[in-house]
Amino acid sequence: MNQLKNYEVVSCIQPSGDIHIGNYFGAVKNWVALQEKYQCVYGVVDLHAMTRNSEPKALQSNTDQMVIDLLACGIDPNKSTLFVQSLIPEHTELTWILSNLTNFGEVSRQTQFKNAQKHNESTSAGFFTYPILQAADILIYKAKYVPVGDDQRQHLELCRKIAERFNTRYEVDYFDLPEAMYTNSSRIMSLADPSQKMSKTKGEKHFIRLFEEAETIRKKVNAAVTDSGDTPEGEMSKGVSNLFTILGACGKGDEVISLTNDFYTNQLKYTQLKEAVSEALVELTTGLRTRRSEIQSDVSLINDTIREMSEKARKTARNTVYEVKKHVGIKSISHF
Ligand code: TRP
Repeated sequence: MNQLKNYEVVSCIQPSGDIHIGNYFGAVKNWVALQEKYQCVYGVVDLHAMTRNSEPKALQSNTDQMVIDLLACGIDPNKSTLFVQSLIPEHTELTWILSNLTNFGEVSRQTQFKNAQKHNESTSAGFFTYPILQAADILIYKAKYVPVGDDQRQHLELCRKIAERFNTRYEVDYFDLPEAMYTNSSRIMSLADPSQKMSKTKGEKHFIRLFEEAETIRKKVNAAVTDSGDTPEGEMSKGVSNLFTILGACGKGDEVISLTNDFYTNQLKYTQLKEAVSEALVELTTGLRTRRSEIQSDVSLINDTIREMSEKARKTARNTVYEVKKHVGIKSISHF
């Protein structure tokens, strides 16, 4: 029997093109830190990205790019397992099994789906059942903790329900219920509309790429919204507070303290704050860009690494699906 790794932490990210500082400070940086304390498995979930109707070439290159970006950010294959979802067909196999333990109503109530309906977007059955695939991503590794953002809370709740129902339905104590891990990651807001979470969908001026060039970083930070009419006198506007969050997330705690002090004594010039934020971001991204180009220089190495790493994760996935099928009463092609 293979030596199977016991994972404690699982999380996944969609290969949706350029990663931005919101993804980094909100998730990836935390993933890197967790490697020091836990056995972690992280996935680039290209099957999830299919629900956005992605163009094949873009899907493929975004997936490779995301792996490279995660490695550049410090995900270390010697410490954690990093996989590409489509290299592990057991994810979809488990999804089918779990679909039969999921109520139609439960999936219909997922906010992401309801929002799409509200906006009259045409939705595929894949988009509808996507949370079940997510539950499979989690349960297949039997990890206890799932570091996710607040927007994924409902999906994780559904995953727990499905796991519980599996145990009840098959009268086994098979799945432990995974728990969301909300850590000290920072929620970064859009620069142009600081009432909304940073995202790429609203356009260039709303986000900063993690690997962005210095010049455009400075431009975007300088253009960031700082005043909003509804901020009470003496309080920090959402935009200003977002700039402070970014500065803190870059590890510039001392500057945050002294500039916050300037703010409350009415001595802070926003240009000064923006300058500090730009410098901190340029410092961060310059280092990351260098790491990324080193990794990127060897494409064949990347392809081999992706396969090797995914194969490692697949061992665990295969074992889980084998055991699950036995409980369910369906056949496995082979015992391994
Ligand atoms: N749905 C998540 C997102 O859009 C990504 C995701 C897929 C995920 N599978 C997962 C997150 C498993 C945590 C665990 O961000």
